[in-house]
Amino acid sequence: MELTNLIPGYQPLPFPLPTWLMQLLLLLGFYLHALPMNVVLGGGFVASALFFFGRSDKTSYSYRAAKALAVSLPLFISFAVTQGIVPLLFLQLVYGPAFYTSSILMAAPWLGVLAILLASYYISYIVIYRTLKGEYSTKKASVAALLLLVMSIGFAAIGYIFTNNMTLMLHPEKWLPLYQQAATGMHMNSAEPQLAPRYLHTFLASLAVTGMTLGCFGLYMVKRDEKFSDWMIKSGSRLFLASTLLQIPAGLWYLKSLPPHLAAYFLGGDNLITTIFAASMLLTLLAILFSVIAALIGSKPAFIAALTTNAILILTMIINRHQLRMLYLNPYVKPDSVAVSTQWDLLAIFLVSAVALIAYLVWLSKLMLRAFKKPITNDDSTTTSLTSTTAEIAPST
Ligand code: HEM
Repeated sequence: MELTNLIPGYQPLPFPLPTWLMQLLLLLGFYLHALPMNVVLGGGFVASALFFFGRSDKTSYSYRAAKALAVSLPLFISFAVTQGIVPLLFLQLVYGPAFYTSSILMAAPWLGVLAILLASYYISYIVIYRTLKGEYSTKKASVAALLLLVMSIGFAAIGYIFTNNMTLMLHPEKWLPLYQQAATGMHMNSAEPQLAPRYLHTFLASLAVTGMTLGCFGLYMVKRDEKFSDWMIKSGSRLFLASTLLQIPAGLWYLKSLPPHLAAYFLGGDNLITTIFAASMLLTLLAILFSVIAALIGSKPAFIAALTTNAILILTMIINRHQLRMLYLNPYVKPDSVAVSTQWDLLAIFLVSAVALIAYLVWLSKLMLRAFKKPITNDDSTTTSLTSTTAEIAPST
């Protein structure tokens, strides 16, 4: 049977926006999702390890950094979840025929994401409002390390399920055989050659972004505790450096796992794709260079340069990732063929809501940062428990 006959058509309604604009919003939306999502994915593991190593001394930098990360995690989770909705909307619109089909084939694990997310999100709150509340003890720190590890395994599973779906949607030739094999919605894309390197690439990136996040905490603390700030910047840069160096073989493995005719687009086969790929390689080298300086001498300008370079690098990688999807799907799924009837009023409502959401999240972040600064005498129970939890991160001077 002709493969294209198996691919569901688009809905009969025209697109509400030009396709290029939806692709752009998909890219930007995913960028805003990817930044906090990386901290969620890597931050839990790092916080767990830091709690473990600093469990016997609440004044150790390791323990204090673990607390800083643990307290901020619910905020990053909330950012990741809310900012996931934007790419989800545009992914469904632009690549619905592929995305819905792969989601149905793996319906059980896909819907399971919600349950895992709820459980992991809840654990992140238990850690800061129950486990770490009140007087410090080695036992509490060990329990926090364990709980954060469990939470992180949950988030790692979510990322793995996402990578399965994002790769299964690229392979229409797999859909019918999988469905014929079992119509249970229990499939994963386990036999996919790019699955392991792609997931490893994401996981290493999440550790690198967590390193940058620790460094940012260091920048924030600089006036209140210079030595701790210096330690955070150096340790964060080292974590970034180690994971980015590991990213080199992982990235090469990822490139090699792609079908050769698609990998060729990144290596000179297409000017735009190759230029973006080359730019990301250059940015990687720059980020490594700046982070070496920051890791060695704790230089703030070098750290900020590494941070900025890394932020642009993630964007270029996300563009390449999107181009790869287009290369895979171009023969089968053609969003450009769908009629467009632009609904500017809907776009305006979407943009206003997106800006309002970001403003709300910024307000929420500021509220959290204020909790770091408040004295422990506040009567409000929620703030008090958070404040007592944060007290050892940045002891008031
Ligand atoms: C907080 C836990 C989450 C983690 C750890 C996570 C992780 C990931 C990862 C690793 C990817 C990339 C997969 C790949 O391409 O290989 C991804 C993509 C994506 N995530 Fe999340 N995610 C989380 C929550 C969510 C939520 C709750 C939503 C929706 C509301 C969401 C929406 C998306 C979308 C739409 C994409 C694909 C975007 C695109 O392909 O352009 N994520 N996520």
